[in-house]
Amino acid sequence: MKKVIEESGTLAVFHRMKKLRAMGKDIVNLCVGEPDIPPDQDIEMAAVQAIQAQHLRYTPSEGIPELREAISLVMQQEGWEAEKNRNLIITAGAKPALFTTLLALLKKTNEVLVPVPFYPSYAPMIRYAGAKPVYVPGNPQNGYKIGSQELKAYLTSRSRFLILNSPVNPTGSVYSPDELQELLKFLEKNHIMCLLDDVYRHFIYDETIKKDISRILKPFQQSIILIRSLSKEFAMTGWRIGYVVAKEPLMASMKTVQGHIIGNAQTASQFAALKALQNPDKYALPLHVFNTRRNEVIKALRQVNHLSIIYPAGAFYVFADIQSIHPEKSDERVCSELMEKFGVAVTPGSAFGLKGFIRISYADGNRLPEGLDRLVKGLSS
Ligand SMILES: Cc1ncc(COP(=O)(O)O)c(C=O)c1O
Repeated sequence: MKKVIEESGTLAVFHRMKKLRAMGKDIVNLCVGEPDIPPDQDIEMAAVQAIQAQHLRYTPSEGIPELREAISLVMQQEGWEAEKNRNLIITAGAKPALFTTLLALLKKTNEVLVPVPFYPSYAPMIRYAGAKPVYVPGNPQNGYKIGSQELKAYLTSRSRFLILNSPVNPTGSVYSPDELQELLKFLEKNHIMCLLDDVYRHFIYDETIKKDISRILKPFQQSIILIRSLSKEFAMTGWRIGYVVAKEPLMASMKTVQGHIIGNAQTASQFAALKALQNPDKYALPLHVFNTRRNEVIKALRQVNHLSIIYPAGAFYVFADIQSIHPEKSDERVCSELMEKFGVAVTPGSAFGLKGFIRISYADGNRLPEGLDRLVKGLSS
């Protein structure tokens, strides 16, 4: 029987924007979560050199040993037990990392707890892996984050994982060290593993919180499956490199599943990723640029009467509540009017499971002031 899988709501907006642009319409992109800054030239050169050196064949399914070694060093610096031959694999980005993990480790009877709002690919992936997503509404008083209080009502004997994404796409909320600790303790007590989607880890604007988070996660390693990606941190979206770190007994089936699906992450990209991870402080995107953009977006949105936003401590998104401005219109309709009439693309909250909101992305800063101008006009009209 053919399985039906819905298109991601974020991609639907992106495709609409491309279609209108192809028809000659001028649309400013405030929808895509893809940094406009290119990766450092050293990273590009590492890929070129890998191609010239004929590194173009299959690699081991878990990735080249040099990159696994570099990842284990990164993890060890954060205090994790990570060994290149034991408990990590290189994947083709975070999406395949998530999918591989879910396919390898879920049983039909399992449930996966998914905080709302959520990254649109989680639920389809869980369903495709044969299990059931269980939505846990976030607390509006706390940036739509969840804690043990919110989780309790949704736990069953079938709960296997919680998928936690922090900084959160779409809200930009960041779980504080205390919130993470409380949550992880609760999960451990209930024998639930945390699938930690850490793709925005670099984009935490308060450096002290960032360091504290690393410290808090360390003692919970045995109950975390850590998913990381080079897509956002090093602007390597199309290069398709990510990795999974988890306790050793889980890795064998993940490697097997990955071997059957992608074989291995793209070979030259693995050499480029090696360059990036040998000196992450040098090659990660400049955080201050995104911080300036964040402040620009907040300042612009303050001009719109009755618009409230969730304070974005991380990622490169602002999630705004439009219910008081447009009580009679759906968020999808507001977004489509913003695109068609005002020439600015933003994503409806419904794509993330929360109606009545819009997500503004400042990952692309090329025409941010102009886009914000159009957005403010559109929302104020
Ligand atoms: C929360 C979240 N997880 C995973 C991904 C996928 O990242 P990747 O490009 O590494 O597949 C994204 C991409 O936007 C994301 O926002």
